[in-house]
Amino acid sequence: MLRIAVLVSGGGTNLQALIDAQKAGKLGGGEITGVISNKPGVYALERAANAGISSRVVCKKDFSSAQAYDKALADAVSETGAELVVLAGFLSILGSEFLSRFDGRILNIHPSLIPSFCGMGYYGLKVHEAVLERGVKVTGATVHFVSEIPDGGPIVYQKSVDVNDDDTPETLQKRVMENAEWIILPRAVAAFCEGRLKIVDGKVRIKA
Ligand code: GRF
Repeated sequence: MLRIAVLVSGGGTNLQALIDAQKAGKLGGGEITGVISNKPGVYALERAANAGISSRVVCKKDFSSAQAYDKALADAVSETGAELVVLAGFLSILGSEFLSRFDGRILNIHPSLIPSFCGMGYYGLKVHEAVLERGVKVTGATVHFVSEIPDGGPIVYQKSVDVNDDDTPETLQKRVMENAEWIILPRAVAAFCEGRLKIVDGKVRIKA
């Protein structure tokens, strides 16, 4: 059974998708052993409590430097015993200590088809606002390994979603979550837990 720590910052709908997949036996034998939020009072913490998963809050403002915060975040993950870290709507940038301690074992869900609409400044609703502003007809979501380049790590899965003429950022976000994020994130975690994800020459190879 592979232990998983999930990092959150908000509503936790992607966390919920992972919790539901675990309950349904569709997480590749993985078990969520801890939820860590960078903000108190977010609904993702309620979701963890309702599922009987331990959680804690690690706030940047409680630390004297970005490095101290990064180390505290990495220590909090280590205390869960996690062998896989999943960023599920997590909005803090991870520092070099965290990235080196969990190198090759951090997955992130991003609400666009990377390399479009990603990188610094593209998060949450801002992504969908930019999609509608540019007028693209297809968007979607991406699960990727996390590297030192924001949203720049090897891509694991992508799933497309059509953009409707009458979409607002909110309606588009909801459809991308329902039809893409909540499907490909559990699928990627399951593949990792089953040892089917390999990185060859910087590209992800997935065994069926
Ligand atoms: C989602 O769109 C996710 O892709 C992005 O943050 C948003 C909120 O996610 N990273 P959640 O509902 O907190 O899982």
